[in-house]
Amino acid sequence: MLEARDRLIVALDVPSVAAAEKMVDRLGDTVAFYKIGYQLVFAGGLPFAETLIRAGKSVFLDLKLHDIGNTVAKGVESVARLGVTFLTVHAYPQTMKAAVEARGDGGLRILAVTVLTSYDDANLAAAGYDFTVAELVAERAAQAHDIGIDGLVCSAAEAARLRSIVGSSMALVTPGIRPAGADTGDQKRVMTPARAIAAGADHLVVGRPILEAPDPKAAAAAIVAEIAVAAES
Ligand code: C5P
Repeated sequence: MLEARDRLIVALDVPSVAAAEKMVDRLGDTVAFYKIGYQLVFAGGLPFAETLIRAGKSVFLDLKLHDIGNTVAKGVESVARLGVTFLTVHAYPQTMKAAVEARGDGGLRILAVTVLTSYDDANLAAAGYDFTVAELVAERAAQAHDIGIDGLVCSAAEAARLRSIVGSSMALVTPGIRPAGADTGDQKRVMTPARAIAAGADHLVVGRPILEAPDPKAAAAAIVAEIAVAAES
């Protein structure tokens, strides 16, 4: 059973290591898990990830890898040496297989992104797919499960349906989380932390509701408390 604090992943969507350090400092012991994506990774984020890991934090590298199998495998081997906990890849069978085979046994877990949430049915058709988003998400989730992927990134709205496809062993990691009353920003399908946990999410990824809060530590603590209550009920 995961501790409530370990179920919150704060998205460090900030432009520099200095800004990231400042936020991590402000959040202190309230937050144990951080996501680093394109913005920070290309601005010194990898050495910073290692610093976080040395400080006892867990790191989710949101790199959404996709390339020929050999290149994915070599990249994943390098990421595994960093001591990262989660790494994302796009949910193409070759890519997922290569990542799973290369992740080793040092604790790195591979998460698959089924269909980017910015895609609707028309976007998929324009990209050459003859599937709806719902069909492709379900197909790729089943493939991810069969290949041995460790978890999926999905909206909380998809969590219950995906749980029925992939069973209980895979982690479901859900962004698009907004505490009641928070600004939704550009997220279209949002859920409160409590509802996301009830829908079957294991980890919640939260960025702006914490980063832009007047008191980020208090905002994070409130979300951890909400997760704890929801997990008990
Ligand atoms: O600020 P906010 O809480 O919306 O941030 C959510 C984080 O999750 C961002 O880093 C965003 O890139 C990421 N994400 C997302 N939707 C996805 C996958 C990742 O919002 N489908």
